[in-house]
Amino acid sequence: MASFAPPRADSTIAQKWFEESTSVDGEFRDLLENYSHVSSDSVVPHVVNTRNAAWQIHPYPCLGQFRFLELNLSHRDLYSRLLDDLKTQPDARFLDIGCCLGQDLRKLIYDGAPPERVAGAELNGAFIDLGYELFKDKKALAGKTPIVSANILEDPSSPSSPLYSLAGTFSAVQLGMLLHLFTWEEQITAFRYTLSLLRGNTGDRIFGQATGHLDGTPTASVSARATFKHNADTFTKLVTEFGQTTNTSWKIVTAELDNGLSVFDGKRTWDDPRTRRLVFEIERES
Ligand SMILES: C[S@@+](CC[C@H](N)C(=O)[O-])C[C@H]1O[C@@H](n2cnc3c(N)ncnc32)[C@H](O)[C@@H]1O
Repeated sequence: MASFAPPRADSTIAQKWFEESTSVDGEFRDLLENYSHVSSDSVVPHVVNTRNAAWQIHPYPCLGQFRFLELNLSHRDLYSRLLDDLKTQPDARFLDIGCCLGQDLRKLIYDGAPPERVAGAELNGAFIDLGYELFKDKKALAGKTPIVSANILEDPSSPSSPLYSLAGTFSAVQLGMLLHLFTWEEQITAFRYTLSLLRGNTGDRIFGQATGHLDGTPTASVSARATFKHNADTFTKLVTEFGQTTNTSWKIVTAELDNGLSVFDGKRTWDDPRTRRLVFEIERES
């Protein structure tokens, strides 16, 4: 893989959340050594080079701070049931929307989920390609695990959508670190289109994390769009509106702010001190 120069050390963004290097330990090292067969000595340069290439595509804080190494999905309480369903239930299928490098997909497959039962959707195809380079599995996943370049703000039931053939097939969908990039109206759209990707059964689940805020508030973003960062109350309102507009009913299994995203370890100095991580899971009742 080509090695990319990191952004200039004096650029505003690099000063805020770009870290030059990282250690790679535990589960992520295990994944790279034993799923991707990267040699032990090569793990760190392989991760840093891939991250530097991803940074050139878009300087997300989760790339600058190597947070994709955390394998967040596998640490959630819901993970063991998700994995068990994928292994044992014939109609269980999982889609990771906004999957970026696709680390959660690879962790599921490494942990035993059939590759045919997991899929990814990502706006930027260059991240998908880098994911194949990071995990060295383009050939292994070909014809089994669809990872498609698609925009969740576009209707997947339109025949022109890259997600068209996958619509109506999933039992569980992750929206991982995605909602805070959208306005309230776009979040409703994202949930509506996620609904059309699900099977339409009681028990269908949508879960994820997002940058949240103690006050649950619209935030003027870099592009001056009022993207919305939730607390538990505003997230509940969003789900209620989503249910009303789609004539569906959803149980809030989890909607809470926690200490993820480095909010308390001094590594989020650029951000509003009232920022927290929103963690959520909703389950279809009818
Ligand atoms: C902050 S990253 C999070 C990546 C990954 N889910 C994680 O948790 O590590 C957000 C990802 O969502 C993708 N994305 C942004 N807007 C999207 C959209 N409208 N449809 C699909 N993916 C989108 C971005 O390209 C990026 O890869």
